[in-house]
Amino acid sequence: MKDLGVKPYVFPMPVALIATYNDDGTVDVMNMAWGGICEADKVALNLDGGHRTTENIRRRRAFTLSLPDVAHIAEADYFGIASANDVSDKFERTGLTAERSARVDAPVVREFPLTLECTLHEEQKVGNDVRFVGRIVNVLADERVLDDKGNVDPVKLDPVMYDTFQSGYYALGRKVGQAWDTGGKYN
Ligand SMILES: Cc1cc2nc3c(=O)[nH]c(=O)nc-3n(C[C@H](O)[C@H](O)[C@H](O)COP(=O)(O)O)c2cc1C
Repeated sequence: MKDLGVKPYVFPMPVALIATYNDDGTVDVMNMAWGGICEADKVALNLDGGHRTTENIRRRRAFTLSLPDVAHIAEADYFGIASANDVSDKFERTGLTAERSARVDAPVVREFPLTLECTLHEEQKVGNDVRFVGRIVNVLADERVLDDKGNVDPVKLDPVMYDTFQSGYYALGRKVGQAWDTGGKYN
């Protein structure tokens, strides 16, 4: 084994997009790969304090978190390149569209297949970064990503994963097992 030092090497990290309202009511969306679930109804967002998104979440105490599909990878990447602090029409430039969430004070991007509507539950400080813990109040799914039982089908969802080693984007591979079942032979 070779020592690689201290690196944030967990893979895959899901590419998620945080949508918020700016102060003037326009939409901002940012790309976040360093986040995840931390309780059955909670999500953790690990953010740099200087992002417009960080300021927006503090102000409105709400956000939506979407999983983009591979078809929207360029828009997703752009949301991680540009900041609403520098580009006033950041969201409009992509041609995507949004509507107001019926439940939280945040936009829902129509083109993304799966969206968690969240309120701000808690703000934590982790070193120089900010961790927002959000409470999931509802999940919106486009019918096209559901199976015939109404569950989200990962293959239809076609999510994007971020590669922490070389900054690549990856699509889903093949299914290799079933949780709480595949390991059952050792029971
Ligand atoms: C693949 C990718 C993943 C990213 N993940 C994060 C992240 O987890 N946390 C973070 O603070 N910034 C992350 N960023 C950077 C922000 O998306 C970027 O700085 C963005 O411009 C912030 O936009 P805003 O200022 O409009 O909120 C990521 C960018 C990319 C391209």
